[in-house]
Amino acid sequence: MTRPHNPALDRLPGSAFVRLRELLDPIVPAVPRTLAMSIGEPQLSPPPWVAEVIAANAHLWNRYPPNEGTPELRAACADWLARRFGLPREAIDPARNVLSATGSREALFLFALAAVPREKAGKRPAVLLPNPYYQVYRAAAELSGAEPVLVPARPETGYLPDYAALPEEILERAALAVFCSPSNPEGAVADLPRLTALVELARRHGFVLACDECYSELYFGAPPPSGLAAALAAAPSEGDPFANVVVFHSLSKRSSAPGLRSGFVAGDAAMLKLFLKLRTYASVQMPLPIQAAAAALWADDAHAAANRAHYARLVAAADRIFAGYSGYLRPQGGFFLWLNVGDGEAATVRFWQKAGIRVVPGRYLTADDPAFPHGNPGHAYVRIALVHDEETVTTALATLRHSLDHPG
Ligand SMILES: Cc1ncc(COP(=O)(O)O)c(C=O)c1O
Repeated sequence: MTRPHNPALDRLPGSAFVRLRELLDPIVPAVPRTLAMSIGEPQLSPPPWVAEVIAANAHLWNRYPPNEGTPELRAACADWLARRFGLPREAIDPARNVLSATGSREALFLFALAAVPREKAGKRPAVLLPNPYYQVYRAAAELSGAEPVLVPARPETGYLPDYAALPEEILERAALAVFCSPSNPEGAVADLPRLTALVELARRHGFVLACDECYSELYFGAPPPSGLAAALAAAPSEGDPFANVVVFHSLSKRSSAPGLRSGFVAGDAAMLKLFLKLRTYASVQMPLPIQAAAAALWADDAHAAANRAHYARLVAAADRIFAGYSGYLRPQGGFFLWLNVGDGEAATVRFWQKAGIRVVPGRYLTADDPAFPHGNPGHAYVRIALVHDEETVTTALATLRHSLDHPG
């Protein structure tokens, strides 16, 4: 395009879902019924009483809501953080350490704009990202003016990126590192020592660690720890114990409420102060009736536990169905399977053509990297979203397993 525009937009890859449509739309499946296991949209519902809370607060639609969140909402988020991650409640000051956000997506995007300086160590700043990655991380890094440094989440490093192994030159320029646990798409979980080492790395090199913890309530073993617990475990002798650490949370997965657009950001008080300044110009506030519903949802652990039990049943079904299949990786959290099928794009076409099941080729979620076979660390994989009811998922996974065992 010849009109003046932000060149970072030209550098962004096309959306994975647009690429998927281009790949599959010309193909007519051989079966009458189709199933989307491509999009990570929970098909369960939030608790029914959410509608009542919103209705009971309908007199507040005529008010401009506070961008940072009502005191009740911020306190409910702080209470949940303390309960869920075993943090001392008094360590979290809702007024300094918590900000509401309209989902974690916009917060993850905008945070990079607040955290990335023009220069770091006299050079172009770097933003460290996992590869594969949630697409918003890359866009945020590019549009903030930083160099996105995509770090492969290899099997040898537990399917998580090893930022400590980066060259000193990059760590010196790093302004921000995004770390996702449980991760999308692999479902990998970082334990507390690993998170603590990351916090120490961030403090040593003077960058901010942004922990995307939006899947933290969906786990199938030990509960995944938070970057905030790691920040406290490695707390400096003086100053903010959460220094250099910011975490992102959401009701989208925890409460099956992606349509509510409700989440929050917590951690480093000075960073959150700056972030609020940016948000007062750039972000949409959460409407007050939604803030009331969000406060009630963060206080409700029973529904989150039922949700978790549902996904645990789906993962148990996947364990059974893919028993003996060498490319199966049991997710520790989240609701995706990251399955090694040899050639992800070819398998995606086959699954759609033969069975009408839509999955995403791993390479559509992964940046090219010439160090890997076929030039992309995600080449061999497909991502399968386990978001439907148990019977639908079980039948579909059995069909996929059969197709992998009988590729002809
Ligand atoms: C890794 C990851 N982070 C963040 C989000 C954003 O979710 P929301 O904005 O609904 O909180 C998603 C959504 O799919 C995700 O997969």
